[in-house]
Amino acid sequence: MSPNDTSKPANAQWGGRFASGPSEVMERINASIGFDRRLFAQDIAGSRAHARMLVAQGILSDEDGNAIQGGLDTISREIESGEFSFSAALEDIHMNIESRLRELIGDAAGRLHTARSRNDQVATDFRLWVRDEIDQVDTALQALQGALLDKAETHADTILPGFTHLQTAQPVTLGHHLLAYVEMFGRDRGRFADARARLNELPLGAGALAGTSFDIDRHAVAADLGFDRPMANSLDAVSDRDFALEFMAAASICMAHVSRFAEEIVVWCSDGFGFMKLSDAYTTGSSMMPQKRNPDAAELSRAKAGRVFGDLLGLLTVMKGLPLAYSKDMQEDKEPVFDAADSLALALAATTGMITDMEPVTENMRAAAGRGYSTATDLADWLVRAAGVPFRDAHGITGAVVKKAEDRGVGLAELPLDEMQAVDPRITEDVFDVLTVEASVASRTSYGGTAPENVRAAVVDARVRFLGDA
Ligand code: ARG
Repeated sequence: MSPNDTSKPANAQWGGRFASGPSEVMERINASIGFDRRLFAQDIAGSRAHARMLVAQGILSDEDGNAIQGGLDTISREIESGEFSFSAALEDIHMNIESRLRELIGDAAGRLHTARSRNDQVATDFRLWVRDEIDQVDTALQALQGALLDKAETHADTILPGFTHLQTAQPVTLGHHLLAYVEMFGRDRGRFADARARLNELPLGAGALAGTSFDIDRHAVAADLGFDRPMANSLDAVSDRDFALEFMAAASICMAHVSRFAEEIVVWCSDGFGFMKLSDAYTTGSSMMPQKRNPDAAELSRAKAGRVFGDLLGLLTVMKGLPLAYSKDMQEDKEPVFDAADSLALALAATTGMITDMEPVTENMRAAAGRGYSTATDLADWLVRAAGVPFRDAHGITGAVVKKAEDRGVGLAELPLDEMQAVDPRITEDVFDVLTVEASVASRTSYGGTAPENVRAAVVDARVRFLGDA
């Protein structure tokens, strides 16, 4: 068939002034049913609420209203059971459902679209979908925080080298490190909640762009569908996709966190570090190298961040040049949001699974934490506290002590006292109390610090703040 063949009949839903149907290419570029079928439940819920309102306002008869609700029941069952046959010729989910409704109940189906356009319909469906998704993301993030909190509690005392510039800096506890991610995912939940609050206004009733001449009750539909209020401006209602962008922006920041954690897992599992063993459930082997155990779930979670960022950038770029109100460009809003939502859900589930299963190799972490003169700051702090030395001077003295230890090839705690006193006679035997990594972490008791006692209290506090534990 030639791409310009237009022998098809015009679309029954809007083809009144059309002599013939679309070309085959037009049908393909125009159809969104391949992906917007995911909105079917929201589309049906929106139609039900709209029909109830039309009846309540006396715009639709009870009889027609009942026929519409019954027909939508049937369609819902047909789609859920996989019996529904979707047609690309009917473009999108809205017209597929309306056309089937007409087959089922006849003329009453045609009255459902009174005071409604696909423009306000799709904006409503999509808001409902993103709202549901945000609720699921919140549940997934809570589960992730729960897994991190359990591990943090178990490892409140486990010593890990803390890095800056990926160079050994000061010892920390693994529990403290994991709690950092609990905070990040907590802020992510806050961002999704903020997006949800702004999203929760009803577009329906805006019509194609200008409102409607029918005496509709938008406040009733808003309440029916769980929206806080109807959107205040009809042009904005049909052309706004901020909610989709905000969802993907929150998803992007969240995926940046997922990716940073994934990166740490990859590094921790490498031979050079040897800090962590992943379970068989989240690793793969190599088809050539029998000894390999690859952290694929972490690597893929890291990679999916790039995908989600791309989804956000894609829709921002679609939206940035659109004049008010609706343009068909906006049909391209759904695939990136679906992709971002699916990628996020999968990455969160994989991350939760890896955290639950991971086994820290505590002796390797402890040994690494002791290398690199990680308690040098403790020596400087001791000079300040015990000998009244100004911190800047203490910093210089400690640097000289570290240099001596380095020359001798020993750690700070192994350097003989007389060698230290040769650098500064104010150093006494007592200094050895602060030079071990255990003493170092135990001393970090300032609010938000890494001391094991802090970590245990922080776990309790985080369970209250994030998981609603009493
Ligand atoms: N499938 C369309 C979309 O997703 C529905 C709205 C169509 N509106 C129109 N004026 N053609 O954007």
